[in-house]
Amino acid sequence: MTSVTVVAVLLVALFRSCLAQSTGNQDRCCAALKASAIGDRTAFPGSITYKGFLHSYYASNAELHPNCIVQPLSAQDISVTVQTLTNSSAEPCFFAVRSGGHVAVTGAANIEHGVTIDLSMMNGTTYSPRTGTASIQTGAPWGSVYETLLRDNVTVPGGRVSPIGAGGFLTGGGISFHAARVGISCDNVQGYEVVLASGEIVNVTQHSYPDLFRALKGGSNNFGIVTTFDMPTQPAEDVWRGDVVYNISHTREFISAATEFVDNIATDPFASFEGIFSYNSTTDLTLIGNILVYTRPVARPAAYHAFYQIPNITDISRLTTIMNITEYTYVSYRIAGRTGTYLNRADIIHKATRVLSKGIRAAKSRAQSKDFSVILVVQPWVPLFWKNSQARGGNVLGLERFDQNMINIDWSYFWNDKADDGLFDDIVGSAQVEMDEYAKSTGAYNEFIYLHYAGRTQNPLRGYGRDNVEFMRQVSRKYDPQGVFQRLVPGGFKISSVGSD
Ligand SMILES: Cc1cc2nc3c(=O)[nH]c(=O)nc-3n(C[C@H](O)[C@H](O)[C@H](O)COP(=O)(O)OP(=O)(O)OC[C@H]3O[C@@H](n4cnc5c(N)ncnc54)[C@H](O)[C@@H]3O)c2cc1C
Ligand SMILES: *[C@@H]1O[C@H](CO)[C@@H](O)[C@H](O)[C@H]1NC(C)=O
Ligand SMILES: *[C@@H]1O[C@H](CO)[C@@H](O)[C@H](O)[C@H]1NC(C)=O
Ligand SMILES: *[C@@H]1O[C@H](CO)[C@@H](O)[C@H](O)[C@H]1NC(C)=O
Ligand SMILES: *[C@@H]1O[C@H](CO)[C@@H](O)[C@H](O)[C@H]1NC(C)=O
Ligand SMILES: *[C@@H]1O[C@H](CO)[C@@H](O)[C@H](O)[C@H]1NC(C)=O
Ligand SMILES: *[C@@H]1O[C@H](CO)[C@@H](O)[C@H](O)[C@H]1NC(C)=O
Ligand SMILES: *[C@@H]1O[C@H](CO)[C@@H](O)[C@H](O)[C@H]1NC(C)=O
Ligand SMILES: *[C@@H]1O[C@H](CO)[C@@H](O)[C@H](O)[C@H]1NC(C)=O
Repeated sequence: MTSVTVVAVLLVALFRSCLAQSTGNQDRCCAALKASAIGDRTAFPGSITYKGFLHSYYASNAELHPNCIVQPLSAQDISVTVQTLTNSSAEPCFFAVRSGGHVAVTGAANIEHGVTIDLSMMNGTTYSPRTGTASIQTGAPWGSVYETLLRDNVTVPGGRVSPIGAGGFLTGGGISFHAARVGISCDNVQGYEVVLASGEIVNVTQHSYPDLFRALKGGSNNFGIVTTFDMPTQPAEDVWRGDVVYNISHTREFISAATEFVDNIATDPFASFEGIFSYNSTTDLTLIGNILVYTRPVARPAAYHAFYQIPNITDISRLTTIMNITEYTYVSYRIAGRTGTYLNRADIIHKATRVLSKGIRAAKSRAQSKDFSVILVVQPWVPLFWKNSQARGGNVLGLERFDQNMINIDWSYFWNDKADDGLFDDIVGSAQVEMDEYAKSTGAYNEFIYLHYAGRTQNPLRGYGRDNVEFMRQVSRKYDPQGVFQRLVPGGFKISSVGSD
């Protein structure tokens, strides 16, 4: 044998033994779960439960293959799971935490080989007419929350599409149709039940654990596993939704109407807006879509007057319930996204449309996927959303630093051929860099990065600002001294990976 072959054979042997060791070790973790009080809630590859779980993620690139999954039914079940997986007298077990499974970043709510704690069976919502409060379990999809609460004619500021989970949405921030009136959704949470790294179950309010209470508002999966969110309700009125499509030739008027809307959002806080530039390879069309949702039963409210001047291709508008407008069906694709926050200026959106065209050209000439699409979404990101944050106990988003009207820009590419993963990640990554550079050079850049739309390479926690990063580090050390949610739960955006300035 040549020395090259010897080295190759040795490497293969080494690789095999590492693999055997790591799967062996992970099998030990699953075996420990199987032998524990959570044993009958543990499912292995090949079982019907596991098969159903595999394809239950929104993005197909978020589908991984844990050695086993656990589906707790209570805080007590989660506590047993965490204690079993963090057993100090055994090798460490790696795990992931999942509620609605709608994060598109691979590995944020799932894990290859390790254990995924799937919270989707903890999906109940209860309402107390006496206190006017809803208790929402982490795995509840927002559609089911609205459905349950509508029986009592009340609602909460949750997700804008039905299948996204309460858990991911509320721990990362949350922009609802009601944001201009009630603020960011996490600021509306009055109490949490949380399983800490030790397995201890605690009730977290502004009074019982003010530091943890604040850190859970934006800090994602860094501090514990939330089981239940208590939120005050508001009367559920019918809403008006307009889905309007415009020819791309009306880009200029649309952008002008959008920036005007954002600057005047305070004049009618029942009005919300998402502007979308989209391209789909099947139709080969780039279009502008507008989602206008008014959270009172008023058709064609005046708040959108600037948009009504623009000729449209289609307009599907209706007065209906919050539940109906969040109904959503989707086909699972591979997804890559990025996001940025900028001053609310027309030239920023114009720049984004030019960057979009460039990305579409690159994708058309290089993609293997026959079917791909891209959306560029523009949303208000304004001080009105965070003016009451401090008074409600605060959050860690750090938005109080900013007093100008801004917009959030969110890019997502969708495709189905795995061979294109690198291509689309490059295209969306370059789009982000080009936008940021343009914004920096024209004074419109803002360092905030919304965690819910952040891509693989982005560092949203850092954008919360130095003080909040330091605060989150302290809270993590205090409630998770062994760093379970840093080391053993590798997925998502980690406070230990923020880096220093
Ligand atoms: C179609 C679509 C529409 C969306 N609409 C909106 C919108 O209107 N407004 C908005 O703000 N965002 C929106 N988002 C973003 C969405 O809020 C986030 O992707 C959110 O994380 C999804 O929640 P989930 O429970 O489904 O997340 P999962 O994918 O289950 O989890 C996301 C992250 O949260 C962590 N996590 C989940 N549950 C817990 C828990 N109980 N305790 C601790 N950590 C936990 C996970 O570990 C993971 O890192 C949308 C996303 C999609 C795909
Ligand atoms: C931890 O592991 C030890 C040794 O395998 C075992 O005896 C003990 O029961 C385990 N504890 C938990 C909480 O799983
Ligand atoms: C909700 O949880 C119950 C068990 O608590 C389960 O039977 C049901 O399938 C869950 N629903 C979904 C949509 O996962
Ligand atoms: C909800 O509102 C409807 C219509 O106004 C009313 O008929 C119904 O009694 C209300 N339900 C409850 C539980 O208050
Ligand atoms: C948390 O609050 C619930 C509901 O009020 C209560 O039943 C439970 O005992 C509390 N748990 C702890 C650990 O305080
Ligand atoms: C958009 O308008 C142009 C003319 O400006 C027209 O040629 C084109 O067909 C229109 N596209 C759609 C989708 O209506
Ligand atoms: C869309 O166009 C139709 C037909 O011109 C018009 O009646 C309608 O008001 C427009 N919708 C919006 C939201 O501007
Ligand atoms: C909501 O949608 C359901 C099913 O799509 C339908 O049966 C119901 O009538 C709708 N409700 C309203 C108020 O539009
Ligand atoms: C593109 O549009 C077609 C037809 O509407 C649709 O079936 C397909 O899912 C879309 N593709 C993507 C990647 O969104």
